[in-house]
Amino acid sequence: MGRFIENINFANDLKNLKNETPSFTNNMNYIGISCGFHDAALSIVDVHGDILFAGHSERYSKQKHTKDLCWDLVTDALSHTKYSYNEIHYYERPWMKFLRQLRTGEGSKLTNLSAKEIIGPNLVHKLQDGRGGKIHTHNHHLSHAAAGFQTSPFNDATVVVIDAIGEFDTITIWDARYDKIGVAKYTKLYTLKYPDSIGLFYSAMTKRVGLRPLDEEYILMGMAAYGESTLYKQMHDELIDDSNELRFKHNLHIGVPDDFLEGANDMDIASASQVMVENLIRTVMRKARFHSKSRNLVYGGGVALNCLANRFLGEYFDNVWIMPNPGDAGSSLGASALGYGRKINFNNCFIGRNISGPYPVNGLLDKLLSDRMVGVANGRAEFGPRALGNRSLLADPRGKDIKDKVNQIKRRQQFRPFAPVILEEMADKYFYMPHNWHTHNYMQSVAICRFPNLYPAICHADGTSRVQTVPKDGSGIRELLEKWYVLTECPMLLNTSLNIRGEPMVNDRNDADRFETLYGIKVLS
Ligand SMILES: [Fe+2]
Repeated sequence: MGRFIENINFANDLKNLKNETPSFTNNMNYIGISCGFHDAALSIVDVHGDILFAGHSERYSKQKHTKDLCWDLVTDALSHTKYSYNEIHYYERPWMKFLRQLRTGEGSKLTNLSAKEIIGPNLVHKLQDGRGGKIHTHNHHLSHAAAGFQTSPFNDATVVVIDAIGEFDTITIWDARYDKIGVAKYTKLYTLKYPDSIGLFYSAMTKRVGLRPLDEEYILMGMAAYGESTLYKQMHDELIDDSNELRFKHNLHIGVPDDFLEGANDMDIASASQVMVENLIRTVMRKARFHSKSRNLVYGGGVALNCLANRFLGEYFDNVWIMPNPGDAGSSLGASALGYGRKINFNNCFIGRNISGPYPVNGLLDKLLSDRMVGVANGRAEFGPRALGNRSLLADPRGKDIKDKVNQIKRRQQFRPFAPVILEEMADKYFYMPHNWHTHNYMQSVAICRFPNLYPAICHADGTSRVQTVPKDGSGIRELLEKWYVLTECPMLLNTSLNIRGEPMVNDRNDADRFETLYGIKVLS
């Protein structure tokens, strides 16, 4: 009898749940997750397409490039939601990856875990509020494509994804467009599969010069300006297959042989590597242009972080969009977008951890005038690898000595330049900006500096600068630049990420306090 009553009650519960169904679907959140390999991240898009949160796990755990989702990240992310009906979307298909590892004999790395096991059952329980439910998995390159296309301003696009490796794909080209009811549709036009991979090539060269692959590729890119590219032909002939310009003679997943370019100068290797990666990307862009209908380019995958190569993308397409976080962390937003299915409301990349309060414009201005350098940790953290004004170390970019001063704080290689942040309408007066880009707000491409002698701190040895422009968007950094310009007639500031050496970017006020204590530089919130 008791059992019978329990069954009746259960049936009533089900009926009630069904009656609640409309509000359940209306209040759904799409949680996108990328984790298990490197750069774990979590994004939340709600049923209206608004991005409630997107953040990096490393900034909570303080473990750079951590592969694990961090409990504090999940807690913070969920605090930005009103409802707890969450659908989980994972950025790749673990069983497909396992299949590749089986086929290619990556024996030591074999893992046959489900998405739930990779994320962690306790975190899944927390995210699903104990209700259970399916975890949706998506193709790795499709998650990259969605992160790009569904945040872009375009209604149709040619999407190019280039990274180290997805499940099998290493390069994909897609036609992307919205159908009559606004649902995103993707058609794959081209694929190149593992082990041929532009990303693996660049990581192998990163390792070849003694840097950490999957981490310090940006340093290899910076070194390129100091070398000669005379090794390019030898590098090309030893690595590229004679029959196909995108195929390699070796599996570069395991790196290049120890005697590859033996005795060569590291800067020259970096320079030749940059020429090689640019030529390979050009080959892909030509292919994309040939195969596709749309003149709008959406570009994603880790290779899209090569801002030096990105300068020429406008030669192949009329409009260019790169989501500010095009690597695997950004694919958490792509997985959310695939769950939502339509264009999502991407306004800017300030969608992470919040440090509340008004932007301290006047305090920053005073410090810049008196000390020439100041930190800022205010508002929501940037989603992506660049500090764009909410977790930044800012400095007066004029004169020769400021680069050394900032480098003393950052303790990084002296040859590496810093980036400028400039009033958008003034950018063309100071830089030859790459054309056919929709926006330069996210520091994604280099531009040639018109006055390298006046601003040596923000100009690289090759004459380029990685420019961030700020439109009239009412933001705090915009107001700061406007006031700085009125007082100094200089429309830009030096902008570098606010982080303690070896640690991820500052996330919360505690991190900012530690930075202040360690370096004696004021950080305003
Ligand atoms: Fe990827």
